[in-house]
Amino acid sequence: MRVISTVSEFQSALDQARLSKTVGLVPTMGYLHDGHASLIVRAHSENDFVAVTVFVNPLQFGVSEDFSTYPRDLDRDVELARQAGADVVFAPTINEMYPDYPEALPTKVSVSKLSEVLDGKSRPGHFDGVATVVAKLFAMAGRVSAYFGEKDFQQLAIINQMAADLSFPVKVIGCKTVRETDGLAASSRNVRLSEDDRQAALILYKALQLGKGLIESGENNSITVARAMESLIKCEARAELDYATCVDPKTLLVPDVIRNDVQLLVAAKFSNVRLIDNVKANFSEPNTRAGSGFQNNNVVKADSLRLERG
Ligand code: PAF
Repeated sequence: MRVISTVSEFQSALDQARLSKTVGLVPTMGYLHDGHASLIVRAHSENDFVAVTVFVNPLQFGVSEDFSTYPRDLDRDVELARQAGADVVFAPTINEMYPDYPEALPTKVSVSKLSEVLDGKSRPGHFDGVATVVAKLFAMAGRVSAYFGEKDFQQLAIINQMAADLSFPVKVIGCKTVRETDGLAASSRNVRLSEDDRQAALILYKALQLGKGLIESGENNSITVARAMESLIKCEARAELDYATCVDPKTLLVPDVIRNDVQLLVAAKFSNVRLIDNVKANFSEPNTRAGSGFQNNNVVKADSLRLERG
């Protein structure tokens, strides 16, 4: 497996591979974990050649965010990428990607609407930074299948929209969230959680399960579902809630009444480590549901999950 750091080497490696092979691309910010490994394994199973990019993109971090403390370990990333089946790791310097950095890049890719809600509200400019760097990587990579985790659900929706709107010859593939055995979604930021915060962070997945249980048992009021998830997260004193919500998976807007499958999303900080997570909730018409209406035994009661304040 090769490790390369210049744009021209990256372009020629992929052009060369494409002469006889299909190419999979896994863009990352490094500090690879099991979630990234699963993307690389999937890319390897569906393509003859896999390129992993490792680049902590300064454009997607706000001034008060964790760009400088974001975990980095290229040697470890290279080893994990190799074991998962990568053929090349592209790890450029900041100046290779943005020659005039730290001067602002005059060109910016911005996906309206989808970038303005949820994390876009709490992290202004974040998704412009993501869309810009991913557009650059797609422009360098050419015709590939690109793999992204569903844990970053809003990011995936934005990248899908951007790739379609700008006609990149890229097939964007969303891959299932990888979870630790207790439900915590794999994230490079998890290593920065203290043991207490790591335990407390489980509240996010519990809240998502609560919301999912409510919807799949017949609750069709999105505000009721959001409030139940919010209340549960607020019971965890270590969690600083950003949002807990229920949205249409395509528009990312909150439906008044739930009439189709929805995506439940949560975001909270634990001692300054910001975590996000989401799950899909399947909606079915009351008469097609197992059992009848609200008698369903699968109802997850908020009380049964409530935590005592520590
Ligand atoms: O999900 C990430 O790791 C990053 O946001 C991405 C897509 C690699 C862009 O920097």
